[in-house]
Amino acid sequence: MIPLTLAEVAAAVDGRLVAADPNTRVTGPVEFDSREVRPGGLFVAFPGEKVDGHDYAAGAISSGAVAVLGTRAVARVPMVLVDDALAAMGSLARAVVDRLPALTVIGLTGSSGKTSTKDLIAQLTARLGPTVAPPGSFNNELGHPYTALQADAGTRYLVLEKGARGPGHLRYLCQVAPPRIAVVINVGVAHIGEFGSVDAIAAAKGELVEELPPDGVAVLNADDPRVRAMAARTTARVVLVGEAVDAEVRAVDVTLDERGRPSYTLVTPAGRAAVRLGLTGRHQVGNSLAAAAVALELGMPLDELAGALGALGLVSTRRMDVFDRTDGVTVIDDSYNANPASTAAALRALAGMGRTRRTIAVLGYLAELGEFERDGHEEVGRLAADLGVDRLLVVGESAAPIHDGAVAAANWGGVSVLVTDQEAAVEALRRELLPGDVVLVKGSRYRTWEVADALRAEAVRTEGGSR
Ligand SMILES: Nc1ncnc2c1ncn2[C@@H]1O[C@H](COP(=O)(O)OP(=O)(O)OP(=O)(O)O)[C@@H](O)[C@H]1O
Ligand SMILES: [Mg+2]
Repeated sequence: MIPLTLAEVAAAVDGRLVAADPNTRVTGPVEFDSREVRPGGLFVAFPGEKVDGHDYAAGAISSGAVAVLGTRAVARVPMVLVDDALAAMGSLARAVVDRLPALTVIGLTGSSGKTSTKDLIAQLTARLGPTVAPPGSFNNELGHPYTALQADAGTRYLVLEKGARGPGHLRYLCQVAPPRIAVVINVGVAHIGEFGSVDAIAAAKGELVEELPPDGVAVLNADDPRVRAMAARTTARVVLVGEAVDAEVRAVDVTLDERGRPSYTLVTPAGRAAVRLGLTGRHQVGNSLAAAAVALELGMPLDELAGALGALGLVSTRRMDVFDRTDGVTVIDDSYNANPASTAAALRALAGMGRTRRTIAVLGYLAELGEFERDGHEEVGRLAADLGVDRLLVVGESAAPIHDGAVAAANWGGVSVLVTDQEAAVEALRRELLPGDVVLVKGSRYRTWEVADALRAEAVRTEGGSR
C-alpha cells in the first residue's frame, strides 16, 4: 500500500482512532491473516464465525503491524475502530486508488473465464508497466479491495476480476476500484441458482459497463448477444471483440492443432497479425481477443502484441492444464470449477484432441445451478455423446443426470459409467487407461480435482496390471 498516516486511514474509512498516534504511518501491506502481517503493515480484524480476528490483534502488533482496523477495541492495541471492517477495507482501497492518478484499473466479468482472462490481460499489461493482479479468483468484496490495496505509486495497471452474486454487487466493486477499461466475456448460467434467470445475470453483469466513465472503454464480446447488448448500457466507447464480422478486434481463419491450441489471424484497426496460442481450447480465442483489445487500447504495438499473445501461459491452476504422462496418456485438468458452458468448452477441446485418440471424460457435479440443475447436467451428458466422447465416467449420484443425458442420446457409440466417488473413478481409470488416451477431468471444485491429482501422481502405470 502507499504510505498513509493513521489519521488518513481513519478519515478514509470513517473510523475512530483508539490508543493510536494519528501521525504514525502505515508503510507495509494490509493483511487480514495475522500470519501474513509484515512490519509497518495494517492488520484487519474480522469478527468471523469460528475465529475472531480481534483475538489476533495483539499478535499482529507483535509481528510489526502499526495498528489494527477492527470493530471493537482491544486493550493496549492501537486501533482504527469502524462499524464494518469489510466496508472499511473497500473505502481504504478506494482512497488508495484515488491517490494514484497514473493507475489504470481494468475490470472484467463474465460467467466463465474471468480468472483465465484476467491472467491473460495481466500477462500483457505486465509488458507495458508494473501490474497488480490477484492470484486465482480473488474477485469478491474482500479479495477485490485486498488486491487494490497492493497498488502503489509504481503500479501502472490494476487488473481485477469481478464476480457478481446478485444485483448491485458489481456496482459496489466498481466503487472500490473504478475501472477505466471494462471487459465482459460472456453471460451464462453459472451461479444461476442465486440469480434465478440468465437475464438477471446479464442485468447484474452489465453494471460493470454502466459504471464506466465517458472516457472509458467497454470491451464486449460481440459473439454473445447478451454481452453485445450491453453496448446500450454505457456512455463509454465500445470495442467489440470476437469472430463476428463487425468486431473491431477480430479473429478469422481459426484453426486448432492436435493439442487443441488455436491459431488465428488477428484483425484490428491497426492491421492484421498471425497469432498462435500456446493455450488449449477454442474458447481461448475469445479470451485472448479480449486481452488483445485491452493491450491495444493501452498502446501495445500490433507486432509486439502478436508475439505476446503467442507467449501467454497458464497462471492459475486447474484451468485447461494439459499434461502428458510418461505412459502416453494426456490429461486435461480443468477441475477448478464447472458449469454447463465451461464444461462444453472443455468437452469440445477433448473431442478436438481425440480425433485420432480415445477420449475419456471424468465429470463431476456442476454446482450452483438451482432449478436448472437437472437440465444443466443432462445437457452436458448429451453434448459429450454428440461430440463422440468415447467413455464417460460420471462421478457421484449428484452428477447422475449427466449419465442419463449421455445414455439417452441417439447413435452414441460410447459408454457411460456412473461411479460412486472420486476413489472409484481413479480405480476405474487405473484399470482402463491405455497409452494414447486423452482424459478430461472436470467438476465443481473440491473433490473432483483429486482425480486429476491422482492422474498426475501416477505418471507411470506398473507393468502387468489388471489388463
Ligand atoms: N470463454 C470461456 N467460455 C467458457 N468456458 C471458459 C471460458 N474461459 C475459461 N473457461 C473455463 O471456465 C472454467 C472456469 O474458468 P475461470 O476460473 O477462468 O472462470 P471464472 O469466471 O473465474 O470462475 P469463478 O466464477 O469460479 O471465479 C474453466 O474450466 C475454464 O477452462
Ligand atoms: Mg474466477
